[in-house]
Amino acid sequence: EGVSEMRLKVNGALRTIKAEPRVSLLDALREHLDLTGSKKGCDHGQCGACTVLVDGRRVNSCLTLAVMAQGKEIKTVEGLAKGEELHPLQQAFLDHDGFQCGYCTPGQLMSGVACLKEGHAKTDGDVREWMSGNLCRCGAYPNIVAAIREVEK
Ligand code: FES
Repeated sequence: EGVSEMRLKVNGALRTIKAEPRVSLLDALREHLDLTGSKKGCDHGQCGACTVLVDGRRVNSCLTLAVMAQGKEIKTVEGLAKGEELHPLQQAFLDHDGFQCGYCTPGQLMSGVACLKEGHAKTDGDVREWMSGNLCRCGAYPNIVAAIREVEK
């Protein structure tokens, strides 16, 4: 079916890729733009490891067509830190041991950023509910909640 050209604005930079029209945003990021921070856990919307922000809203990038993200602001975990300076939530994950193996962490961070921004971090319960689509096999959930709540305070 050939390839099409797409222009994606990722972490503030406009990038052009050539890919098959049905490429997912996750594959576009990982395979065409070498942004491998976003992880492919399940590839069908069940684990949250691929979470990124599109126009500030979190999405499962495995379920999003790259072509639909054209003209929007895509933010990935690679765009969280400002140079050497970690995003406050990244620092809080370190301070609260918000990960063990780290595989789910990029998705947890992006979901957590959206949680804070959209006002769902007022209580532990709110955070748990908001974050329920982000699975962690190591069971770091309590520490992840603590990290998000720390930034909220
Ligand atoms: Fe997208 Fe699991 S890889 S939700």
